[in-house]
Amino acid sequence: MPNENQEKRISVALDGPSGAGKSTLARAVAKELNLLYVDTGAIYRTVALHVLRRRVEPGDAAAAAALLPEIGIAMAYDPAGLQRMYLNGGDVTELIRTQEISMAASAVSAHPAVRAFLLEMQRDMAEKYSVIMDGRDIGTVVLPGADVKIFLTASCEARARRRWLELQQRGTPKDFEQLLLETQERDANDMNRSAAPLRPAEDAVTLDTTEINFQESLERIIEIIRERTGL
Ligand code: DC
Repeated sequence: MPNENQEKRISVALDGPSGAGKSTLARAVAKELNLLYVDTGAIYRTVALHVLRRRVEPGDAAAAAALLPEIGIAMAYDPAGLQRMYLNGGDVTELIRTQEISMAASAVSAHPAVRAFLLEMQRDMAEKYSVIMDGRDIGTVVLPGADVKIFLTASCEARARRRWLELQQRGTPKDFEQLLLETQERDANDMNRSAAPLRPAEDAVTLDTTEINFQESLERIIEIIRERTGL
C-alpha cells in the first residue's frame, strides 16, 4: 500500500452524487499520484447486504441499528490495488454491486447510528495512509481537515446515462427511464437526509462533469490536487 510510512499524509476528499464518476476518477488519480483509493460507498453497501440478508427493511432505522453489533466489516487491497470488502469474514466485493444493494445502501446510510458505526473505520484509513476517499460526506464530516476537497457532480440525465452504459457493457442491461428514476430517488435520499446530507463542503472545489469527458475530468482533478498539496 502506498505511503504507509510517509511522515506527512495527504488526504483528498472526493464527494458527490451517485454516478458522477467518483470511483473511476478516484482510482485513476490514486494511481497517478500514488495515493490509496478508499471507496466508502462500499462500506455502506456491505452494511446494506447484511440488512437485506437478515430480511430487515433498510429504511427501518431501529431495526437496522439493532443489527450493527453483529456486523464485522473488513477491507483489504488485492495485489492489483483493488479494494475488497469482507462481511463477517466472507468476501462480498462483487455481491455488493447490484442495483438492489445500491438502493438499500442509500436507505441504510440515512440512519445516524449506521453512520456513527462506520466513522472510525474511515478516519482510521486516512490516519494510516495518504488517501483519496470518495463518498458523500468525506469533506464535511469524515475528514473536515482534508488537504483537498472536491465535489464532483453532473446532471441527473448524464449520470443515469453513464450507469445505463455501464450495465449494458457488463451484460446486465436495464431500462434508461427506470435508471433515471432511481438516480433521482437516490439523490433525494442522499441530499435530504438529516444525518450528514450530501452537500459540498464550504471549502470544496466543485467540478461539473456533464460536458467534459473522463480524461478532462482526470486532468482537472490532478491539477487541483497538485496546486493544493505540491504533489
Ligand atoms: O458511492 P456508492 O453508490 O457506492 O454509495 C452507496 C450509498 O452509500 C449511497 O447511496 C449513499 C451512501 N454513502 C454515504 O451516505 N456516505 C458515503 N460517504 C458513501 C456512501
